[in-house]
Amino acid sequence: MGMSKNQGSTLQKRGQFTSSLGFILAAAGSAVGLGNLWKFPYIAGSSGGGVFLLFYLIFVCVLGLPILLTEMAIGRKTQISAVGAYKKLNKKWTFVGVLGVVCAFVILSYYSVIGGWVLKYIAGYATGGNFGADTKQYFDTFVSSPVEPVVWHLIFMLFCAVVVVGGVAKGIEKASKIMLPLLFLMIVVVAVRSATLPGGMEGLKFLFVPNFSALDSFEKVANAMVSAMGQVFFSLSLGMGITITYGSYLKRDTNLSKDAVVISGLDTVMALLSGIAIMPAVFAFGFKPQAGPGLIFATLPSVFSEMPLGGLFGLLFFILVFFAAATSAIALLEVVSAFLIDSFHWSRKKATILMSCLMGAIGAVASLSMGALSGVTIANMNIFDAMGYLTDKILMPLAALFMCIFVGHVWGIKPVVEEIELGSAGPFRLRWIFSMILKYIAPVLILVIFIMGLIPAK
Ligand code: PFF
Repeated sequence: MGMSKNQGSTLQKRGQFTSSLGFILAAAGSAVGLGNLWKFPYIAGSSGGGVFLLFYLIFVCVLGLPILLTEMAIGRKTQISAVGAYKKLNKKWTFVGVLGVVCAFVILSYYSVIGGWVLKYIAGYATGGNFGADTKQYFDTFVSSPVEPVVWHLIFMLFCAVVVVGGVAKGIEKASKIMLPLLFLMIVVVAVRSATLPGGMEGLKFLFVPNFSALDSFEKVANAMVSAMGQVFFSLSLGMGITITYGSYLKRDTNLSKDAVVISGLDTVMALLSGIAIMPAVFAFGFKPQAGPGLIFATLPSVFSEMPLGGLFGLLFFILVFFAAATSAIALLEVVSAFLIDSFHWSRKKATILMSCLMGAIGAVASLSMGALSGVTIANMNIFDAMGYLTDKILMPLAALFMCIFVGHVWGIKPVVEEIELGSAGPFRLRWIFSMILKYIAPVLILVIFIMGLIPAK
C-alpha cells in the first residue's frame, strides 16, 4: 500500500483491539445502554407489541446493519477517528465527522448526569434500599437538589475518564470484557425472576402480543414505524462516529460483516431481555409502565420494595444499569478524545482529562437545570431536555443522513465493499441491496425520522 513512512509510524502508535471479541464487546457496550433499558420496553409495548417488534427487527436489518457496517468500514479503512476519517476521504465532508464529535460531546454531558443518578441508587441499595414511601418524590427531590447529583455525575465522569486514559486495549477493551458479560448475566437473572412472578404474564403480553388497537389508523402505524427507526438509530449509537472510531482500532483481518451482525444481534437481544426484566415485574405489582427516567428511578424502586428479596434485585438491577450506561459513556468519551489525539496530536491523558472536565462542567449545569436553574429554558425546555432534543432529533439523524449521502453518492459504494471484503472469506453477496439502501432507502427513511422528530407531539 502506498503509505508514507511518517503515516506508518503514526499508525504504530495508535491503540488496537487485541481481538475481534474485544472489539465486538466494546462496540456492543456502546450500543447497549439506557436506550435498551428505559426506552425500548416502553415504546415496544405501547406502540403495538409484537407488531412493533417486527418493525424494529426489519429496521435493524435494513437500516441499522448496513449503516453500522459502513461506519466500521470507514474506520478500518482510514485507520483514524471520525473527523480525520472524513477529512482523509474528502476534505469537504469533514463537517460530518465534526457533527458526530459535537453530538457525542453533548450526549455525554447529560448522559453522565444520568450515570450519576444510577450510582446514587446503587449506593442507596447497598446501604439498605430505603427510598421512602413515595419513590417518585424521592427521585424528584434528589435530581433537583443542588449538590448531590452533581457530585455523583462527576464521580461517573471520573470513572469513564480513568478507563479511557487506560487506552484502547488496556482501558476500553478490558473494561468492556468485564462489564458486558456481567451485564448479560445479571439481566438474565433479573429477567428470569421478573418473568416468573405471579401476574408477570401481563407484562410479557404487553411486550410481545401484537396489539392492533394501538395501530388502528394510518397515523398510528406511521408513528410506530418512525419510533422503531429512531430507536434503531439511538440504540445502535449510529451517526456519531463511535463505530468509525472503534473500527479504526481494528486489524485488517477482521470479518466486518460478521461482527456487524453480532453487534446488532447482541443489542437487540439486550433490548428484549430488558423488556422481559422490567415489564412483567411492573405489571405483577400493579404499576403502570412508562418510559424514561420515571420507569427506572421511580416505578422500579416501588416494584422492588414489593418483591421478595427486592433489595438484592434492586442492587443487581442498578449495577447492570451502571454497566450499560458506563460502556456507552466510555464510547462517547473515546470519540471526543480520539478526535483531539488524532487531529491535534494531544496525548490521550491530556485530551481525556480536559474533555472530561469540560463535560463535567456542562453536565453540572444540565443537572442544575432540574433544580436551581429550572427557570432557564430553551424553546420551552430546560437545559437538560434541550440537550437531549438537540442530539436525538437533530444532530444524530443529520450526521447519519450526511454519512449515507457521502458514501452513496460521493465517495462511492465500491471502496466500502472492498473494505468489507478484505477480512471475509468471499465476495460481499449483498452488494446490490447494500448499495440501494445506502444510496436511496436509508437517506429517505432518515429524512422522514428527522422531519417527524421536529413536529411537536400532539
Ligand atoms: N446506544 C446507547 C443506548 O442505547 O442507550 C445510547 C447511546 C450511546 C447513544 C452512545 C449514542 C451514543 F453515542
